[in-house]
Amino acid sequence: MLQNSYYTGNKYIKVVIPEKAGKRSLMFIIQNRTGCRIKPGMTSYMFNRLSNNLTGESTMGITVYVTRDFEHMSEVAAGVVIKKIIETHKGKDSAVLGLATGNTPTGLYKLLAQAANDGQFDSGRIRSFNLDEYVGLPGDNAQQRVIHPESYAYFMIQEFFGLLQRKFIETRLPCGALIDQKTLIRELRGNKQDWTFQGTDAGKSIVIKAKPASAYLAWIRKDILDGYARKIKAAGGIDLQIIGVGGRGHVAFHEAGIPFKGSTVLLVRLDRDTIANAVQDGHFPTLGDSPNYAVSMGAELVYQAKTVLLMANGERKVDAVTRSLLGDVTPEVPISYGRQYAAKGGDLIYVIDRIAGRELLAARKQLKVKGVNIKDVSAR
Ligand code: GLP
Repeated sequence: MLQNSYYTGNKYIKVVIPEKAGKRSLMFIIQNRTGCRIKPGMTSYMFNRLSNNLTGESTMGITVYVTRDFEHMSEVAAGVVIKKIIETHKGKDSAVLGLATGNTPTGLYKLLAQAANDGQFDSGRIRSFNLDEYVGLPGDNAQQRVIHPESYAYFMIQEFFGLLQRKFIETRLPCGALIDQKTLIRELRGNKQDWTFQGTDAGKSIVIKAKPASAYLAWIRKDILDGYARKIKAAGGIDLQIIGVGGRGHVAFHEAGIPFKGSTVLLVRLDRDTIANAVQDGHFPTLGDSPNYAVSMGAELVYQAKTVLLMANGERKVDAVTRSLLGDVTPEVPISYGRQYAAKGGDLIYVIDRIAGRELLAARKQLKVKGVNIKDVSAR
């Protein structure tokens, strides 16, 4: 008999399986601490944990690589992404990547572009979907907003797409720049019956109802928000999603406090912290220049990808990264949704530096019980 103990949610359970059970025919007897049988059956979380133990694989569940610094984090992340692209290309024509902006993935993008240009994988067989785009960038028309140096479209061309000798087949970002912020504010103020705010904190999701009176809001819902989700679906979903960590653990622009349920593609009124961070990081000269809204994939959509790779470095990320794996799964820390994703069989990988991973390294034992596999590669 093989026996293993797991902590799932708030229950501590022991799982007993017959020794010769095949990977597909495992029978689980779930016992409580005293060995009293409480429920036969299994959860997908346990199936993944146990089948990984039996086969020696470590890809399912949550794996955390703790690296030395930004450069090392970028190298380790590049290794994960290249491997995944090559594997995916064995099974289908094109691999679908979900891409993030921010400083965190810039080193990764340079390494990926180099690897593609050196022929390690075929960038001509990749489609990409970015997480988010601002609404409210300076500019008097959509073209000016798209080409604004702080737009995420501009960022992606500068940091990644432009470096590739062989371009991706398809590169998409949410069409936030098509929305005119002044018109949006006017339509929201004039049609309050058409939408509701969702969120317990300062950052809110603006949920536009199914048949709004405002034609402008109807267009945003149908074409900009649902339209983006449709494009991802039409591409067959995302194989590998790269994410960073924003203020208070937000993912993309799924701000802290926005509920998980129904969070596919969101129209977001940004949190004050997010707006302030954009100024503090030198992206915009004043709070007045910093966009107030964004179109963003929500946590539920982000974590539908087959693999999610979270990157984080530096002091600013310690709290969110720690809470995401050691605290509750809560919209207060949107990246904590990853735990629910992994529990349902999702492949979640963190590649972080040792500063961001400081508290996690100190809580290794606790994490092991939760099924989180910490790999400290910082000495290598
Ligand atoms: C913004 C983006 C996020 C990103 C975050 C962190 O909020 N919408 O997707 O993760 O910035 O940026 P940085 O990597 O610069 O810390």
